[in-house]
Amino acid sequence: MNIRPTPLTGAIVMRLLEESDAGPLSEAYLLNREYLQPWEPRRADADFTLAGQRSRVQDQLRLLESGQTLPWVLDEGGRVVGTLTLSNVVLGPFRSANIGYWIDHGYAGRGLATQAVAHACRLADEVADLHRLEAGTHVRNTGSQRVLTKAGFTRIGTAPNYLHVDGAWQDHLIYQRILNERPPACGRVQDRQTVGGPSDRSDGPGRV
Ligand SMILES: CC(C)(COP(=O)(O)OP(=O)(O)OC[C@H]1O[C@@H](n2cnc3c(N)ncnc32)[C@H](O)[C@@H]1OP(=O)(O)O)[C@@H](O)C(=O)NCCC(=O)NCCS
Repeated sequence: MNIRPTPLTGAIVMRLLEESDAGPLSEAYLLNREYLQPWEPRRADADFTLAGQRSRVQDQLRLLESGQTLPWVLDEGGRVVGTLTLSNVVLGPFRSANIGYWIDHGYAGRGLATQAVAHACRLADEVADLHRLEAGTHVRNTGSQRVLTKAGFTRIGTAPNYLHVDGAWQDHLIYQRILNERPPACGRVQDRQTVGGPSDRSDGPGRV
């Protein structure tokens, strides 16, 4: 899949995850630990260490290789200031993925999340050949809900007890964006390489 690094605001570039991101990611998660805590599943202590991130990055790169995940980082001169991930990529007649993201608290309010989500939608449509993206946001996460609305997502419902976030099962608002009306072509090579159907995925939403 040909996905080139893309400049966003200022010197920030959105590019696919690389093995060398483990160090900057462990620093970014440590720096944003309390900021992200209300909105995402509890992280293991290993997530804040170089060794833990090395192992996590390798897992993500394996999922990228198999077409199940598209993991991006927002890079400013070697520092990670956010991530955006399309996970649970399913092809066949569903052609859908979950989108998740966060932005470093020092970079909030500059339009970065909006730009990153818009770019990921374009690539999901034009490069990954998906039909739909889905996002779940904590009911109180008005910032993320605004980002999704600005990026063309529509709220499709409320999922009670949806995700274990910050130590408890929390209700989430579910959003989707339909990317195009193309019908799925039958028998594409990429479809045969990826297991089909939502029930085949064990890596659920919410961890990005
Ligand atoms: C939510 C988050 C991704 C927003 O990132 P960002 O780069 O600051 O967002 P943008 O600058 O693109 O802002 C887009 C819009 O959302 C609004 N917004 C952003 N954060 C907000 C907040 N905390 N409360 C209310 N509105 C907010 C902005 O004002 C802007 O709206 P406007 O154009 O009408 O003024 C970021 O705060 C974050 O990472 N939060 C913690 C993790 C998280 O919630 N991830 C998403 C899980 S679903």
